[in-house]
This record gives sequence, structure tokens and C-alpha cells, in this order.
Amino acid sequence: MMTQKIGIGRAHSKIILIGEHSVVYGYSAIALPLKNIEVVCQVQASDQALEIDISDPLSTAVFAALEFLDKSDEKISVEIESNVPAKRGMGSSAAVAIAAIRAVFDYFDQSLSLPDLEMLANQAEIIAHENPSGLDAKTCLSDTAIKFIRNLGFSEMAMDLGAYLVIADTGIHGHTREAVSKVRSLEEKALPYLHRLGNLASTIEIGLLAKDLLVVGQAMNRAHDELNHLGVSSPEANHLVQVAKNQGALGAKMSGGGLGGCIIALCQNQEQAESLVSALEKEGAVNTWIENL
Ligand code: MEV
Repeated sequence: MMTQKIGIGRAHSKIILIGEHSVVYGYSAIALPLKNIEVVCQVQASDQALEIDISDPLSTAVFAALEFLDKSDEKISVEIESNVPAKRGMGSSAAVAIAAIRAVFDYFDQSLSLPDLEMLANQAEIIAHENPSGLDAKTCLSDTAIKFIRNLGFSEMAMDLGAYLVIADTGIHGHTREAVSKVRSLEEKALPYLHRLGNLASTIEIGLLAKDLLVVGQAMNRAHDELNHLGVSSPEANHLVQVAKNQGALGAKMSGGGLGGCIIALCQNQEQAESLVSALEKEGAVNTWIENL
């Protein structure tokens, strides 16, 4: 009996250190890959055609890939196994799209260039996110931290701060699409916030280069306040940010599109990160991760 061909694709998740929302308006953002938090996709032959669901990044990514390969009529089934919690600002939709596109190309034994992969992932993201900046797909495709500017590109950033970043999930679904349209609907009222967030991204970049944890931490605190005043944070994220500050974190902020999702907190050392994780879990975080910076 012939073994059935299986196409496999993987992708990792990401977290935004600074620049969510302002990145949509051309300011720089800094984001980190989370290489151990992964999505794996498997594609196999099927006797039924897939049905497209345009609200689902998996479905839109698979169809974008099939169309690109001129194989829209092929019957395949697609399965996802994911450690990336969905709708938490961790790039789940971009990671799912990237893994699925890789799996479709692998299934048809087609080579896939990085620019084509990124273009197809962004095509799928447009439907999930509405006018995405491209930051999520770019970070999920990167093995290093990046500084990203919409339509201009990205540069790799060395991260050797000797510090730790705690990521804590509020357990509440974030709503990137709604948050992005909320900011847009504020029109010129949003501009001063976006401008200050843009400046804070530059401050954090300088702080990272100088390995000045205090500068980075303070700018994170200020960015959280700006995002909260912009209306894209949530009571749960605000609470966890406050817990992190009370526990002596150098800085803390919401991360990603917001209206739910995750917070991040900067810690001096592993011991502080671990005790902060316990405190955040006691105060309602449903999941936590520690990343070495
Ligand atoms: C979403 O992860 C980040 C946002 O800045 C939207 C985007 O960049 O497309 C909120």
C-alpha cells in the first residue's frame, strides 16, 4: 500500500515589545519571536473539497496558497496543532497562516520563497485583521528580535540585555480588528497618542542598544498608559500591569492589539521573573511564559 503524502508546515509565535497600533501609522515597532511556542499544520489528500471561511485565517491562508499554485480545485484536508493561544496578541493568526502555507507547498513539493510566503501570509492576515501593518507575519518569520517599519521593512536587533520578559495571558480574547478600527475612528484625536507611542518606541530602541533596563522599563510603563488612554487596553490587562509594577517589575504594558490578550513585564533577573509569574497567576493570569532577553 502506498503511504499517503502529508505536507507539514511550522511557524512560531511572537510578542510585541513596543509599537502596537502606532506601527499601523508608520511609526517603528519592536517585536520578539517566541521560538518555543509553535503551530504545526498538516495537509493531506481528502475526498471532499475544503470550504472557504473568510473569517478564518487558516482557511484564507490555505486558499491563498492553493490559488498561488494554481491548484484551487485540489481536494485536501488541513489540520492544525497549536501551542499558540488564539486571539492573545501572540501572532496566532499569522503563525497559523504561515504554517498552513508552508504545509500546502510541502504537500505539493513546491519550493516557497520567503517573499512569496510573507506576501501570502499578509494576504490571509488582511482578512483576519483589516489593513495589518505586516508586523505579525514578519516577526513570525524571523528568528531574531526585529525593528519593523510599515512599508519600509525591518532590521534585526541583537537582544542581550541579561534581563527577562514575563508574558501573562489575561485569558480574555483580544480583538485586534476592533481595536484597530477603534483607533482609526478617533481620527485626529488619536494622533498625539500615536506620536507619543512612536517616540516611546525610539526611546526603547535606544535603551536596548545602551542595555539600560530602567529606560526600557519606564518607557514600557508610559506606553501602557498611552494605549490605555487610547482605549485599547482592558480592565484585566490594567490589573495585571499594576500587579507587575507592585511586584517591582522594571516596566509593564499590554501587548498586541488589545481589548484583552497579554501583558508583558520586564524583570531584572530570573528569580524576579519567577516570583512575578506566581503573583500574576494568583491575580488571574491564565497562562504565563518567561523569555530571556
Ligand atoms: C497586532 O498584533 C498589532 C497591531 O499594531 C496591528 C498591526 O500591526 O497590524 C495592533
